[in-house]
Amino acid sequence: MRECVFIDGVRTPNGRAHREKGWFRHLRPDELLTPVYNALFERNNKVAPDMVDAVFVGCANPSGMQNDIGRLAWLASGLPESVPTNTLTNQCPSGMSATMHAARAIMTGEADIIIAAGVEDMEKVPMGANMDFPPRLLKYYNGADLLMGATAEKVAEQWKISREDMENMAVWSNKKAWEATVSGKFKKEIVPIKGLDDNGNEFLVDRDQWVREKVDEDKMKTMMSPFKPNGVVTAATSSPLTQGACALLLMSREKADKLGLPYRYKYSYGVLAGCDPTIMGIGPIPAIKKLIARTGLNLDEVGAIELNEAFASQSLACIRELKLDNENAPFKRVNVWGGAIALGHPLGESGARIIITLLNILSTEFPDAKYGLASLCGAFGNAGALLVEKVQ
Ligand SMILES: CC(C)(COP(=O)(O)OP(=O)(O)OC[C@H]1O[C@@H](n2cnc3c(N)ncnc32)[C@H](O)[C@@H]1OP(=O)(O)O)[C@@H](O)C(=O)NCCC(=O)NCCS
Repeated sequence: MRECVFIDGVRTPNGRAHREKGWFRHLRPDELLTPVYNALFERNNKVAPDMVDAVFVGCANPSGMQNDIGRLAWLASGLPESVPTNTLTNQCPSGMSATMHAARAIMTGEADIIIAAGVEDMEKVPMGANMDFPPRLLKYYNGADLLMGATAEKVAEQWKISREDMENMAVWSNKKAWEATVSGKFKKEIVPIKGLDDNGNEFLVDRDQWVREKVDEDKMKTMMSPFKPNGVVTAATSSPLTQGACALLLMSREKADKLGLPYRYKYSYGVLAGCDPTIMGIGPIPAIKKLIARTGLNLDEVGAIELNEAFASQSLACIRELKLDNENAPFKRVNVWGGAIALGHPLGESGARIIITLLNILSTEFPDAKYGLASLCGAFGNAGALLVEKVQ
């Protein structure tokens, strides 16, 4: 098998998916992908667009404006027709699956250069839009139990995660995300793009919209669960509705050497796992266990871990069961620049975004670590885990 190295990764800032308040409310999801493609080619000018063997784009809801977004966004960006594209979905792990497919094609020798991307605009194509559930599914599940918020409440109950611990984690996630934002840690990965403020005035957005300088902890304590009467999961302990896109440039090590492109990390291993869709948030547990069983990985050799925060309840359940870090925030190696509760979670984008952030965290905060791990859950019980390794 050949080695597949990570050359670069960029993303748009995450915008709030809101018709009046969203900074990117004037943009379509394909218009979010264009600046990340452009940035990849500008930053890596030894790679011309027609040298790319394929583009894989993860999207959780490829319908409406996101229908075959992989192909249509590429062509709408004025990029070469000769480059094939593949839009793929398995809900939130879509961007991670795109990266796994890209790496494997490179490792087997079927391709030299692939772009793995992710995109979701939860305002233009809302969660569940155009969904037509197979009625036979209801033989096995109660439809209401499959809704994301309901699964987060069920995980909180079954794993005995208190509201206090979830709020503590959400405050920490915001704090770390704010610190990382103001100290410029996301500068390497964020491509600034034009946005609109509340009054419709244009400005250059270079940071994620949802990140709060200060979390109103008193307000947080009084917020009600939108998901269940007397529930414990609130908007403050959930990932918010978000718009965003990102892309990674992957290459065979030989090709990168030939082009003289630097790299520090390579794709090591990736797995998908399935779990009960009514507790979909615990997906990283079987995914990471499977990855460990297949690779013999010792978690002590892992520096940073990026665990997508769909909800604080599921993140804490995964962290505790797998003993990834402390039982409660603050954490030493999980989401040290904040997570999706603060940064936002554009569904099909996040699986690739956490790999980009992981690579940047590893190279700056954990330069001696051999491995970095990214994992996330997804609607209906799909999950992914992906290991990156420092190149020798
Ligand atoms: C929880 C959820 C229903 C809330 O949606 P919403 O009702 O549109 O609410 P918003 O996100 O706009 O937030 C509601 C209010 O609470 C506020 N709020 C949210 N978090 C807060 C916090 N930590 N502190 C204080 N206020 C907070 C918001 O700022 C907003 O107030 P504003 O409009 O005055 O700014 C929605 O975010 C959601 O469904 N999240 C989960 C998404 C999901 O399932 N993803 C897939 C996971 S696999």
